[in-house]
Amino acid sequence: MTAPRRLLWIGTSWKMNKTLAEARAWCAAARRDPGPAPEGVTYFVVPPFTAVDTVARAMEGSGWRVGAQNAHWEDAGAWTGEISPRQAADAGATIVEIGHSERRRWFGETDATVALKVAAVARAGLTPLVCVGETAQDAVEADATLAVQARAALAAGVDVALAYEPVWAIGVGSVAADPAYVRDRVAALRALAPPGTPVLYGGSVDAPVAAAMMRHGDLDGLFVGRAALDPSGFSNIASSALNAVRSG
Ligand code: PGA
Repeated sequence: MTAPRRLLWIGTSWKMNKTLAEARAWCAAARRDPGPAPEGVTYFVVPPFTAVDTVARAMEGSGWRVGAQNAHWEDAGAWTGEISPRQAADAGATIVEIGHSERRRWFGETDATVALKVAAVARAGLTPLVCVGETAQDAVEADATLAVQARAALAAGVDVALAYEPVWAIGVGSVAADPAYVRDRVAALRALAPPGTPVLYGGSVDAPVAAAMMRHGDLDGLFVGRAALDPSGFSNIASSALNAVRSG
């Protein structure tokens, strides 16, 4: 099989799901299918903090990267209930997701904290995966909203990956954005970010959406939620995305 044109990222966050036993079972299944990513492709999984160490051990030697769903902006200190990037790294994470819309909406995450966290994640030697996305209310000014969020993510001047996740396209009851709409938003993000910054799409990705996005969205990858809570869902999405890239 020929390698895709550019490095492709396909990953999933489990959000607040899975016990340790469920995490181990997912990893065992994913090691079999889809197994290791082909050349030029990165597979990654972002469990809750409680399972980062377990998942990192379970995926050892598979080439998969493991992430954390959030981190604090300090390396250590009196911050009850928080986890630092250094601790996430110590548990086996190499990626930290920052600024997911659920954190912005429910936990007071702001562009200012995103900027601080991106710097802290990079300081710990990890890759910040920063989520940006407009709500349905600011959809008419989507690019302006995205520009503010992206500038915060890029302010530290460190390498980041961006996940474009329109808030209205995420979660139960939502539908994925139109790939042509995504392509326009991605173009606006690429105009702000340094060349080579990976831009992923997230929001109701399933296997058909994965193919359409990779064909028409000008994307470097996909970030999947509920459709990959079952490992066979991840595998179907990955093969759908890879086939679309190879045939496109
Ligand atoms: P979803 O979540 O795939 O369940 O819509 C996507 C996300 O929050 O990244």
